[in-house]
Amino acid sequence: MAATPGPAVTGGAITAGLVPLPVFASTDDAASFTIGSDTAIEVGPGDGTAAVARDLADLLRPPTGYALQISTGAATSPPKDSIDLRLGSGNPALGDEGYDLTISKDGVVLMATKVAGLFHGVQTIRQMLPSAVETRAASSTVWKLTGGHIVDYPRYSYRGAMLDVSRHFFGVPVVERYIDELALYKVNVLHLHLSDDQGWRLAIDGWPNLTAIGGSTEVGGGQGGYYTKADYTALVQYAQARFITVVPEIDTPSHTNAALASYPQLNCNGTSPALYTGEQVGFSSLCVPKAATYTFLDDVVSELAALTPGPYIHLGGDEAQSTSAADYVTFVQKAQAIVEAHGKSLMGWAEISKAKLDQGSVAEYWNFNDHGRSATDAAQQSVKVVMAPADHAYLDQKYDAHTVLGLTWAGAIEAQDAYAWDPLDGGRVAESDVLGVEAPLWSETLHTTADLEYLAWPRMAGIAEIGWSPKAERSWPTYRTRLAEQGPRWTAMGINFYRSPQVDWTS
Ligand code: ACM
Repeated sequence: MAATPGPAVTGGAITAGLVPLPVFASTDDAASFTIGSDTAIEVGPGDGTAAVARDLADLLRPPTGYALQISTGAATSPPKDSIDLRLGSGNPALGDEGYDLTISKDGVVLMATKVAGLFHGVQTIRQMLPSAVETRAASSTVWKLTGGHIVDYPRYSYRGAMLDVSRHFFGVPVVERYIDELALYKVNVLHLHLSDDQGWRLAIDGWPNLTAIGGSTEVGGGQGGYYTKADYTALVQYAQARFITVVPEIDTPSHTNAALASYPQLNCNGTSPALYTGEQVGFSSLCVPKAATYTFLDDVVSELAALTPGPYIHLGGDEAQSTSAADYVTFVQKAQAIVEAHGKSLMGWAEISKAKLDQGSVAEYWNFNDHGRSATDAAQQSVKVVMAPADHAYLDQKYDAHTVLGLTWAGAIEAQDAYAWDPLDGGRVAESDVLGVEAPLWSETLHTTADLEYLAWPRMAGIAEIGWSPKAERSWPTYRTRLAEQGPRWTAMGINFYRSPQVDWTS
């Protein structure tokens, strides 16, 4: 392995278009490499390496017009004019997701310990190419890569985006498109908020009314919708192919009106409430003392666990204002045991730290009004936290008073507000307590892909960088210039992003 270069020079040519910022980068002004019709993609052995090579060839094909050949090279020193992808850098710092990228006049060498690292390294190559690489039409662009060396790996293993498909339902193609956008920024978790008061969105075999009744509406009274198991499996696999793990959430014990409306036996009074299409929270609760509640939960978690390759089942736990404090603790502990009995770990909004949590459970901090207390309570139980403070990381809040979409209860969140914070701010948790970060996108006001993208971008990119890049290297002034370079890329991708006036977009 080549020597590890110095820390990233954030204004350096090699990092100019990169979000997230790499850990180490050095530009070699004397070297650059131009992809041409004769460039070969060489791929080393290992399960999954050829798929990453194919992804790169497929990306390059329409804009370059080149049908780049992929060959399974045994060469230890890559041939000239090639992009060489292989496992085995020998650098333990790379971990499961890191990569080592060298660009010289002879070609590109990308090495990683695991295939996920090759995938992330390809996203870096993608961001180093002119933005026309994102168009699906032929372009006469020169496909030049700046010479230099990058050694890169994430700060946190959990870099998440959450999408609420309950308040308004989004079908498989919409979610797949978001997955594609997230992968470009090295996001590796998609948390799907699959149930709430206004809609239940995943078919559960033993409980068909959940979707037949509970899935039949949404905020504002639209027709709702739901994923069949086949739809959901397709989503999970689509994400997996992009090294993104789906964390499914069934929100409990509150945010459950859609389930309560579907099955009378889940209600303490044995009577189903009407379906709900408003925007209030905290009025519903599963019936904590009833055995039927746990039969239901066990069935749902059993089916979810079978559909979930990842380690976590998220059972919500937020805003349980209609559940007594004692019942809440009882419920969370029973829910945790059910999740563990099905071989998974419980994830929940950080209110769950009021209960006794097991190591391996994860608390997601959101409620900035508690000034970090729920995160600290979780950490004191040796439980890891995911930081998603609503006043910085909630993508559903308006950018400013003029934003048409979105809500305002956590305040206006401009591009800089979403970026200029850190999980350790306020000293509520230590670095070792933090599993990662997440940016939730709640959908009360969202109807279309264009709506979703307008609130997600550019803020999602900022959260992605917080999750990946070293804290000491991050600063708004340098991020702002790298963020500006995403504008033409998002335009080429057809993304309906918000042109924040805080950023000098390059087009
Ligand atoms: C939440 O925003 N209620 C997690």
